[in-house]
Amino acid sequence: MIAEPAVTTPTPPAWRHRHLLDVADLGLDELETVMRTTDAMATVLARPIPKVPTLRGVSVTSIFYEASTRTRVSFEVAAKNLSADIVNIAASSSSVAKGESLVDTVRTIEALGADVLVIRHARSGAPYLAASIFGGHVVNAGDGWHAHPTQALLDLYTLRERLPGADLHGRKIVILGDILHSRVARSNLWTLTATGADLWLCGPATLLRGFEALARALPGDRRLTVTTDLRAALRDADAVMTLRLQQERMAAGLLPSLREYAARYQLTAERLRAARPEALVLHPGPMNEGVEIAPDVATSGRSVITEQVANGVAVRMALLYLLAGGRPAESADAPA
Ligand code: CP
Repeated sequence: MIAEPAVTTPTPPAWRHRHLLDVADLGLDELETVMRTTDAMATVLARPIPKVPTLRGVSVTSIFYEASTRTRVSFEVAAKNLSADIVNIAASSSSVAKGESLVDTVRTIEALGADVLVIRHARSGAPYLAASIFGGHVVNAGDGWHAHPTQALLDLYTLRERLPGADLHGRKIVILGDILHSRVARSNLWTLTATGADLWLCGPATLLRGFEALARALPGDRRLTVTTDLRAALRDADAVMTLRLQQERMAAGLLPSLREYAARYQLTAERLRAARPEALVLHPGPMNEGVEIAPDVATSGRSVITEQVANGVAVRMALLYLLAGGRPAESADAPA
């Protein structure tokens, strides 16, 4: 039998972070390390049997206090591809439903032998509380409005993969929709402006509150425009990411109605004509087709929405590897 070739991963100085709580903690060189490590993991995924022994003996537990399909499943697939053991807990069917506190739940998970804790929570900051008591590594899988670091990293990877030259400098990227309640927008704001994109945030004024002040406060080398003018935002855009209206986080009165929102801000094929002919369409999911995005746009040749989901596995493999591998390795095949 012919042995599979070793997968060469970058050899970063050491990964200095114990946890992944926010992309704002990552420098440009570290974003680059994540991207290159993801390339290596994508090579593993292209094999007939996409599995390496790198994290054998590492125990990962995920606990989701909010619903999830993509993030939960892709962390599970990522951990299994690296030969880690993984246990998934749905908070709704755990002792959380009997009133157990987050602190007691985290202590219990640690006592049961977890080395890595992947946590999603409706409250911003919950992963920080978990990290303050958990002895291993904590990965934020989305906390309230605050951050969704692995989503921003997979979005960055997808954009680099699909935009010519893999370079975001000067690329006009639009995030459209419910910016106010979006942890995805906040995390993407950090990574996309850090990597040189010309980022535009667009939506109804009520869903942009606070972002104009943020744009003014950003360092001069970061380019961020905040606008309610969809046509101006889409003009010559290289990529457009639409966002779901997060009604579970939305106070009454922020929007007249879904119909009104769709009439003014839905990404339709006609509106997308203002963008560059080859402009990419992204959506972090889950989508409400017919509200923030027209069904034909979601499934058009410009859409990279399915690629975002697929890249989520490689990105999460890279992050588990960097956090729990203990040291940089010459090869993703190297034992942990
Ligand atoms: N993008 C995202 O977080 O999707 P899920 O809620 O399905 O995990």
